[in-house]
Amino acid sequence: MERLRVVGGAKLVGTVRVSGAKNSALKLMAATLLAPGQSKITNLPAIADVEYMAELLTRLGCKVDIKRDSNEVLIDVPQKLGHRADYDMVRKMRASINVLGPLIARELVAEVALPGGDAIGSRGLDFHINGLTEMGAEVSSEHGFIIAKAPAGLKGAKITLEFPSVGATENIMTAATLATGTTVIDNAAREPDVVDLGEFLISMGAKISGLGSHTITIEGVSKLTPTTHATLADRIVSGTWAFAAAMTQGDITIENGRADHLELPLDKLVEAGAVVTTTKTGFRVKMDKRPIAVDVATLPYPGFPTDLQPMVITLNAIAEGTSIVTENVFEGRFMFVNELLRLGAKIQVDGHHAAITGIKQLSAAPVAATDIRAGAGLVLAALVSDGVTIIEDAFHIDRGYPDFPAQLQSLGADVSRT
Ligand code: UD1
Repeated sequence: MERLRVVGGAKLVGTVRVSGAKNSALKLMAATLLAPGQSKITNLPAIADVEYMAELLTRLGCKVDIKRDSNEVLIDVPQKLGHRADYDMVRKMRASINVLGPLIARELVAEVALPGGDAIGSRGLDFHINGLTEMGAEVSSEHGFIIAKAPAGLKGAKITLEFPSVGATENIMTAATLATGTTVIDNAAREPDVVDLGEFLISMGAKISGLGSHTITIEGVSKLTPTTHATLADRIVSGTWAFAAAMTQGDITIENGRADHLELPLDKLVEAGAVVTTTKTGFRVKMDKRPIAVDVATLPYPGFPTDLQPMVITLNAIAEGTSIVTENVFEGRFMFVNELLRLGAKIQVDGHHAAITGIKQLSAAPVAATDIRAGAGLVLAALVSDGVTIIEDAFHIDRGYPDFPAQLQSLGADVSRT
């Protein structure tokens, strides 16, 4: 999908079903490398990044069979894996870096091209590298590759992360499952995606405790076995629908949505005037007036997710009152604001703060998606604009939102691919 055409003005009403989380599914797929044999992942989202990860695993020697009808993937992992992930693959998505931990654990050598991914700011790998180094690996960076070697095997270590990085926690955790001895990760990420990955590893036979807390302990085992696991529901897609309901003064029931993984964002929506109720199988967000502006600061989980920052900025852009949104995780995320300015939003960015003065309605204009979440934020902005908005580079949205245009149409929006 190159372009999306969105006609503003619809109230979104109805029910959407949320599938598995991108940021879980990709990590689970990478972690299957740890156990030779066939693993199965269900509740897979139908997104482009899953295809990229399948291609990457295939190049490492796996047989990957994505079953579209049942949203499952079967991954046959060989006894001997390749150990190189090339740039043409890795540049397509950041999550490719998640093969680093499993490859060094299994093959004692890994060469992974430095990832590309979203243009949301510099995304270092120093925490990943430091962690593996503390476990006895020699890690260097040459010709655009990270090269990690541990000929004598990885050893358990106590690792304190400078920042609770999701990716670093995941790579260290996967690498530690097959290391000798015990690894303790302090200041670990607490995101539900990390917990989902940890539970997947436990079902493969890994010994892990402390998931969801600041300290994760992994006792190395000699071997892991293949498993079957259902991907956790996508909290960012669920949250996007929640903001869409509040902004369009609509009423959306989010089937499979986990309100318990969205406590702060949903509290903010209630503060903005929405009514949020949990249902037996998800939750519902209803709004019948113009939202009231809310201040937000993004933080690692359970803080307000940086991936929903474009949605809250967009809500504030049409809310009553002024607000400050502070970005504490990715410095480049405010690139999205330039696109909103094209729609007439009143926003001033100063460092990692955005000051927003709400106006009644945005005004349609051509805009471009710069990353997955910015793309989704622009769709929401277009829905509350006067006129027809064309969103360029809409392929970004397909990387994270399964069948977004069709789901929007089912809720009453006039959205089409062009
Ligand atoms: C993951 C998610 C992304 C989400 C982010 C934060 C995936 C594929 N992506 O990204 O959608 O926005 O978590 O919830 O799961 N950092 C370093 N050095 C490192 C590692 C990270 O400086 O070695 C910095 C990053 O530049 C960033 C911050 O730490 O400023 C957080 O990054 P991290 O939590 O690692 O995010 P990702 O795993 O890349």
